[in-house]
Amino acid sequence: MSAVLAEAPVPKTAPVAQEAALVLLGTGVVGGAFLKLLCTPVAKRLHLVGAANSRKQQIEAAQLAARDLRERLKREGAPRDDAALLSALDEHHATLKVIVDATASGDLASRHADWLARGYHVVTANKSLAGGHLSGWRALQAARAAGGRYGDSATVGAGLPVLSTLRRLCDCGDSLLTLEGVFSGSLSYLFNTYDGSRPFSELLGEARKLGYTEPDPRADLSGEDVARKLLILARNAGFALGSDEVIVESLVPESLRDISTETFLARLEELDEPLAALHEAARERGHVLRFLARLNQRGRARVGITEVPLTHPAARLYGTDNQFALTTTRYHTQPLVIQGPGAGPEVTAQALLGDILALG
Ligand SMILES: NC(=O)c1ccc[n+]([C@@H]2O[C@H](COP(=O)([O-])OP(=O)(O)OC[C@H]3O[C@@H](n4cnc5c(N)ncnc54)[C@H](OP(=O)(O)O)[C@@H]3O)[C@@H](O)[C@H]2O)c1
Repeated sequence: MSAVLAEAPVPKTAPVAQEAALVLLGTGVVGGAFLKLLCTPVAKRLHLVGAANSRKQQIEAAQLAARDLRERLKREGAPRDDAALLSALDEHHATLKVIVDATASGDLASRHADWLARGYHVVTANKSLAGGHLSGWRALQAARAAGGRYGDSATVGAGLPVLSTLRRLCDCGDSLLTLEGVFSGSLSYLFNTYDGSRPFSELLGEARKLGYTEPDPRADLSGEDVARKLLILARNAGFALGSDEVIVESLVPESLRDISTETFLARLEELDEPLAALHEAARERGHVLRFLARLNQRGRARVGITEVPLTHPAARLYGTDNQFALTTTRYHTQPLVIQGPGAGPEVTAQALLGDILALG
């Protein structure tokens, strides 16, 4: 048996069959990891014809090939102008023209549907369109129905196979009944680690230094990012939820909301007492705290801190794990659970690459 296994061919990721020309929007953490992947053999049929950060862009081949493209773009390049980037795509001989959005810009996301309608493919880590206003989601669905290809694997679970699985189930006539889980790597880390022995603020400061949270941790603690992911999943399962229909229980008290990042970081300790009280109350019942996203059978959606018993799947998470428990018409006795690291530039960039390769 072992000899047979040893001789089994090593599976290879098939490179995209067709040549693809790419424009990369966003050269931050994820965009930088994506640029590294473009230098690997699986990307040999992908041609970067433009790259941009929020202020500068580059379409010169020699500049785009520079190893320090990200750093160069911080100092030099042409001013931002989408038209020049789209022209670079149009002028390339490749059949597939792909816009890769590795930003969090709502402004750029609002152009996705238009780009699809104009014949470009869009591959994105940016949740602002699919997880934003319902009108934006509907515009996206219309563009998809007209043939636009939208790669969104990186928007939820940093590329864990959640959206693809959900769509596959729905394509087979299955229906999502309920959805529950931990959709944020940073909040997962914080509550998997918080045991009341140290102040929450201390843990948060450490998580920030490790790069697990946004520079302003309120972006994570507000629950808004989790709410966008819940909306994306719910909408893909056929729930036409408006962005105002998700109840979001922020971990940031009112008094810490409208202040500068610097002041917030200086007042982190104000988070400690309320969380310690919740933790203690949960501990007395033999429970733990988790920041859960939930969608029930009637389409009610909520994200916020919840006590769960130790037997709950979310109580058994590690590090920055995400978890998605899908109860469907056919997975109704036990949910289908997808779990794994749900943050990180390399896996997110890989999800973008995977979506591009799938276009060919
Ligand atoms: N980091 C992760 O682990 C992770 C995981 C899953 C999904 N995501 C998603 O991936 C996206 C990028 O995250 P990130 O961590 O890479 O963020 P980041 O490091 O802050 O990078 C964002 C990049 O977008 C650029 N940008 C902003 N507006 C732009 C515009 N109008 N045109 C072109 N570029 C623009 C920024 O330019 P400047 O440098 O000039 O500001 C920056 O280069 C976000 O939507 C995030 O939610 C991230």
